Amino acid sequence: AIDISSLRGESGVITIDPGFKNTGSTKSAITFLDGEKGILRYRGYSIEELAEKSTFLEVSYLLIYGELPTPEQYKDFTKTITNHTLAHEDIKKILEGFPSTAHPMGVLSSLVCAQTAFYPASLDPNRAAPEVDMSIIRLLAKMPTFAAWSYKNQIGHPVNYPDNSLDYCSNFLKMMFSNPAEAYEVDPVVANALDKLLILHADHEQNCSTSTVRMVGSSHASLYASISGGINALWGPLHGGANQAVIEMLESIKKDGGDTKKWMAKAKDKNDPFRLMGFGHRVYKNFDPRARIIKKAADDVLAKLGVNDPILEIAKGLEEEALNDAYFVERKLYPNVDFYSGIIYRALGIPTDMFTVMFAMGRLPGWIAQWKEMRENKEPIGRPRQVYTGYNERSYTSIDKR
Ligand code: ACO
Repeated sequence: AIDISSLRGESGVITIDPGFKNTGSTKSAITFLDGEKGILRYRGYSIEELAEKSTFLEVSYLLIYGELPTPEQYKDFTKTITNHTLAHEDIKKILEGFPSTAHPMGVLSSLVCAQTAFYPASLDPNRAAPEVDMSIIRLLAKMPTFAAWSYKNQIGHPVNYPDNSLDYCSNFLKMMFSNPAEAYEVDPVVANALDKLLILHADHEQNCSTSTVRMVGSSHASLYASISGGINALWGPLHGGANQAVIEMLESIKKDGGDTKKWMAKAKDKNDPFRLMGFGHRVYKNFDPRARIIKKAADDVLAKLGVNDPILEIAKGLEEEALNDAYFVERKLYPNVDFYSGIIYRALGIPTDMFTVMFAMGRLPGWIAQWKEMRENKEPIGRPRQVYTGYNERSYTSIDKR
């Protein structure tokens, strides 16, 4: 029997809501999401309009500081970020300590957390605003460097230093793909497509990784430590790791002869743990607006790059079947942001286990904005309660009597 007195919280009875399906953890002025209508807005601006007209760094500014920047603010912001793209040289020693089998997400979260060692002032819980602003700039500036370096470590190539004559995405692509043996020219189609994908991923209110960032930060841990926690939360296949899982699933379906019906049946079989990756969402019970934009972008990018990827056809076939299947319709399971993003990443030449790293690069400004809001609102430490279901009090039995 549960001891009723243990169910009393500070301001009433404790509720149990596994997965926080109906629990708001905070008030927030950053991102509006209506899952029934399929609406997503950053600071009041629709995701459709931002994806079409804005840039990733402008959206980052909007999310973090609340307003679109003036031309002067934008120039200053991008210039300061560009000036901080270089990582401390000793970061390379940490990188070299990882075996080439290390997943880039693990490397990325470690390098981000290691920033606390290089910038110890960030650990002061009463740090002044300029120090927080510097942490924000350093994170946005160095994330592409760390991301590209985590890939270089994996393939055993020397790392490339940033090229500050390039824009944010071009600089990242050059660090990823350039090597001493062959020339590499950044394709503007690829850089623009990547910029758009980063915008689509930039924030999504209180999801698993963002809640993690706020939770870690609520103990007044540094911004670097909080973001590192968020990267780890994003890694899992039920969250950001789904983009990698989608491509692996589509590849398996292709190898299996492309029989989508068979895989649909597997996803519906309650005795089979398999789920159709890239389908379903905790909040969207209608089309994920990001998935609509990405599906169209996938068609455009593949056409522009002249890529003919048979798994795009398999993906479209699966979507078609799911949208007409009673199981998926009843449960309101629609393609989510991850369903088509992997196909674009593949067309852009990004290796499969870097997909979630791309997501982390995109989500970074959202995590920063949410962390900043939480601290500025002076939110209390996150500390959920529980309903205890274990033993009542019992006495210790010495080891010889057990
Ligand atoms: N394939 C088959 N069945 C599914 C799927 C799926 N992809 N997603 C949900 N269902 C079924 C569940 O089995 C459950 O069925 P039941 O009512 O008969 O038991 C019902 O739909 C509801 O699913 P829940 O797991 O309760 O929904 P929840 O909101 O907890 O989970 C989640 C959402 C994790 C996204 C889930 O839909 C899923 O696992 N999808 C696949 C992984 C994925 O694509 N993740 C990326 C999400 S987007 C992002 O994080 C960026």
